[in-house]
Amino acid sequence: MNNITTTIIEKMILYFGTDVRRINHALKVYGFATCIARKEKLTENELFIVDIVAILHDIGIIEAEKKYNSSNGKYQEIEGPAIAKNMLSDQHIDTTTIDRICFIIGNHHSYQKIDNMDFQVIVEADFLVNIYEDEMEKHSIENIRNKYFKTQTGIAIIQSMYAD
Ligand SMILES: [Fe+2]
Repeated sequence: MNNITTTIIEKMILYFGTDVRRINHALKVYGFATCIARKEKLTENELFIVDIVAILHDIGIIEAEKKYNSSNGKYQEIEGPAIAKNMLSDQHIDTTTIDRICFIIGNHHSYQKIDNMDFQVIVEADFLVNIYEDEMEKHSIENIRNKYFKTQTGIAIIQSMYAD
């Protein structure tokens, strides 16, 4: 974990205030994502992107609830990138990297848009947490594994955690 990642974790915690569930959700997704990304040998820049996206992927949820009275994924996708961009603006990160981070945050429920390993790892990590938090049933878990899990590490983890 580098200094920027640490700063962004703290910013996320302060931003979510007393919403402990969302803070915990982000930290859990970060834990899985950083583990999968490292085991899958992503590049240094991709590892950085994965860490930051994992921490901030649901950051649009507060604005989504305020503006649309809904925590629907689509609205989080719309609101998330601008908030993330603002949080990252004083961290001296190059524009290409910021754009990539915002792209994944803005599409992280749009699975047909997965175009690279950084995005793929985020989707797998979010599922690993949501399966438990949403108490998904066995057939949904199987469907998710077959449809959305691609990395060897992610597949090994979903099998291990949610084996019947
Ligand atoms: Fe999430």
